[in-house]
Amino acid sequence: MKDFVIYGAGGWAREVFGILSALNSDKESYRFHGFLDSKPELVGTSLFGYPILGNSCWLEGRKNFAIIVGIGNTLARKRMVELLKENYQPYFPILVHPQAHIGPYVSIGEGSVLHAKSVATVNLNLGKHAILNVGAVISHENEIADYVSIHPNSSVAGAVKIREGAELGTCSSVIHGIEIGKWSVIGAGSTVIRNIEPFSVNVGVPTRTVKFLSEHDLYPDKTVLPLPKQANDTL
Ligand SMILES: CC(C)(COP(=O)(O)OP(=O)(O)OC[C@H]1O[C@@H](n2cnc3c(N)ncnc32)[C@H](O)[C@@H]1OP(=O)(O)O)[C@@H](O)C(=O)NCCC(=O)NCCS
Repeated sequence: MKDFVIYGAGGWAREVFGILSALNSDKESYRFHGFLDSKPELVGTSLFGYPILGNSCWLEGRKNFAIIVGIGNTLARKRMVELLKENYQPYFPILVHPQAHIGPYVSIGEGSVLHAKSVATVNLNLGKHAILNVGAVISHENEIADYVSIHPNSSVAGAVKIREGAELGTCSSVIHGIEIGKWSVIGAGSTVIRNIEPFSVNVGVPTRTVKFLSEHDLYPDKTVLPLPKQANDTL
């Protein structure tokens, strides 16, 4: 049985815990030790009866642990994955809720999480550390890059490309053949019928672009994560 920790103790980490519990109730697959978090005030407290063990230093000397980085913010998730890879030898499993559906010719990268009722239909690629939230659907010939978050009940039609770190808000939809630029955001309930610029925020039916994001906008709280080594445009 694999030893397992979740990095983070916020909303998405709790959802990941829910998926883990569902998996373990089907068949005891993971030995869950608790949560890791960078906020010192959380260390020593508990969540769902499991301890918040410490920050990433807790992994020192613990080489065979499976880790899901349960951080909802896409850029913060990327930074934490990079930090863990630089300093430890993490194993990032793919976590699939027992009620998710994965069809044939689907490839999924390490660290990605597929929640209940999510569907990956056929012949598509989902990158690393991506999120397919409750009821989200991705479909044929989708090319979905690393760190993409597709939120509850969103639907992506065929042959759509979604670049790194893009986020699709709850109940959004994307028509066939669209390209969604890296680190862009689609608002909740929005419908995408045209290609989306990198770093842009887009809302409405059909979407209009309302602003462009800097790295600071993407992840304002730099207090718990190291600063990037390179400039903004290399995200
Ligand atoms: C798109 C979003 C990120 C914009 O947030 P923001 O950067 O704080 O932007 P603002 O609230 O300043 O909104 C900017 C404009 O877009 C409009 N807008 C924002 N979200 C919208 C949405 N989902 N649909 C339609 N219009 C929207 C605002 O009314 C505002 O319009 P105005 O300038 O004409 O007044 C946010 O509203 C959103 O929809 N997030 C999705 C969150 C989500 O689904 N999370 C899932 C977690 S599981």
